[in-house]
Amino acid sequence: MNTNLLPADGPDTIERAAEIIRSGGLLGIPTETVYGLGANGLDPDAVLKIFEAKGRPQDNPLILHVAGPEQVERFCHDIPDAARTLMERFWPGPLTLILPARDVVPRRTTAGLDTVGVRCPATAVTRGIIAAAGVPIAAPSANISGKPSPTTAAHVLHDMDGKIEAVVDAGPCAVGVESTIVDLTGQTPRLLRPGGIGPEQLRTVLGALEVDEAVLGEVAPDAVVRAPGMKYTHYTPQADVIIVTGGREAAARYILRHLTPEDRVLCFQEELPLYPEGTATAYGEETRPETLARGLFAALRELDRADIRTIYARCPSGGGVTYAVANRLKKAAGFHVVKGDEEP
Ligand code: TXA
Ligand code: MG
Repeated sequence: MNTNLLPADGPDTIERAAEIIRSGGLLGIPTETVYGLGANGLDPDAVLKIFEAKGRPQDNPLILHVAGPEQVERFCHDIPDAARTLMERFWPGPLTLILPARDVVPRRTTAGLDTVGVRCPATAVTRGIIAAAGVPIAAPSANISGKPSPTTAAHVLHDMDGKIEAVVDAGPCAVGVESTIVDLTGQTPRLLRPGGIGPEQLRTVLGALEVDEAVLGEVAPDAVVRAPGMKYTHYTPQADVIIVTGGREAAARYILRHLTPEDRVLCFQEELPLYPEGTATAYGEETRPETLARGLFAALRELDRADIRTIYARCPSGGGVTYAVANRLKKAAGFHVVKGDEEP
């Protein structure tokens, strides 16, 4: 299959892309978070192709992308007021809501669950494609399973060239990490995955918000987790990733004591002068956390090379999108964290 690159502002892009979805094909879609691997979410055969192209385990459900809040009623029932408030406040945007699924949603999309994730993406061309196709687009991130999510059309082509009919190119993603996921099917809303909308922003709207264990730490492979995807290794370069905490200088001393020619440093822009030329990659500025979110996955992809043994990574701390950046980095590190200012 020849994979076409469709520019977001091309005169016939929305029509061509919608036709791919309607006819059961696979389409790379831009969103403000990461690029998605889209197909008609109501067509089990089309959805199966997503799992095959990604090499994704079939017990890991997909998110349905809708053109607006008014479509949610078609796919979900028993929608609580809290969900409506969240949609009003944060859609279109990087927030996925888990709600009870109607029978029209194929069990292949939900991986057998009776709930479904719904999200209205901010990227206008993608909402246009959903509206023109007349069906919701089921889309996981458009990476090969286990690899960092794609934040450019080039990343999508790297992983999916020849396996999908086209990718719509809207440039680099504005957020850079996947959407925040909130489960609204229980007593208290529960954060299943941090993302572009921070926990404190959710709490201002919801009041109470529980945080799932899978967000906070490593999950045993046989554990029952609410967002099945959280149990799989994610974003993992071939190298071991070790997070080094502590102040800039202390962390640099620790790293330089351990650094071999096969190792690399993944750090903040502000820290580059602390490391020898050619050893360090910056993924953004610590003082501008949104740049860390935009740059993290591209940097992990760049460092995903067989000849790199260990990546010493610097991890930000804080709320908002920083919380999501730290979560993704810790997952990439398998929660391997060392204290730069204490350990030898
Ligand atoms: O930003 C995003 O959410 C991107 C873009 C493309 O929209 N999509 C994305 O999809 O990150 P994916 O499939 O890579 O991650 C979706 C996560 C997985 O961890 C999955 O297990 C969880 O959402 N999920 C999906 N449906 C669920 C459900 N009904 N209940 C619990 N977790 C669910
Ligand atoms: Mg993913």
